[in-house]
Amino acid sequence: MLAIIGGTGMAQLECLEISHQKVVTTPYGEPSGPLTFGKIRNNTVVFLARHGYGHTIPPHEVNYRANLWALQSVNLTRVIAVASVGGIRADLAPGTVVIPDQIIDYTYGRKYTYYDGKDRSVTYIDFTEPYCPLTRKRLLEAAGRAGEKVLDGGVYGATQGPRLETAAEVNRLERDGVDMVGMTGMPEAALAKELGLCYATLAVVANYAAGRKSSAHLIRLDEAHGVLEKTMVRVRNILEWVVTL
Ligand code: HPA
Repeated sequence: MLAIIGGTGMAQLECLEISHQKVVTTPYGEPSGPLTFGKIRNNTVVFLARHGYGHTIPPHEVNYRANLWALQSVNLTRVIAVASVGGIRADLAPGTVVIPDQIIDYTYGRKYTYYDGKDRSVTYIDFTEPYCPLTRKRLLEAAGRAGEKVLDGGVYGATQGPRLETAAEVNRLERDGVDMVGMTGMPEAALAKELGLCYATLAVVANYAAGRKSSAHLIRLDEAHGVLEKTMVRVRNILEWVVTL
């Protein structure tokens, strides 16, 4: 069974034929909302809106631990995260869909592990490959079948937000090797790994990151929303295929 975590621009999944919702409580508090169960092309899918169904939870306040715990508590093994990003690499123009293969974490103050001492022994997870290679491969294959162009690979830089970056911060991210910047990729990916979930991200470029390309002027959030709305149609098309693989 597959879970889809929807990000900004995807508070609902229109192609999902909803059967029911389930409120899950976890030892880590409340998830962003009830889990929405339904079918896409006859395959059961569980959907969760990362920022809440009314898009009210900012990136630094998302209860990532509760969200992933809730998903694994209903026996899910595969998670596809949809996340909007700013493009830093030259070919990551607004409207591009990319499947990152690496992460650099710049977030702070978030609850980033299930192994936080107390009653659990110290545990180090291997995070060399932050995303599940098989789930990435399936996403690439689904995009091919759907006839949607996606880019394979790239470094996702997770910033704290909720403000966007300065131009100098984006220059630093670029020097670090970051290709795209978003605010929700961590600790989500690491927590998924701790739970043994197969997790991969479909990143949607909403805007050029601060100070890049045409953003000699400021980032226009209204433009970014328009881009997301259009691009999510393509993302849904890919998701409709990935459930069949
Ligand atoms: N920076 C950080 N997160 C984002 C951006 C950005 O430019 N665009 C969409 N999410």
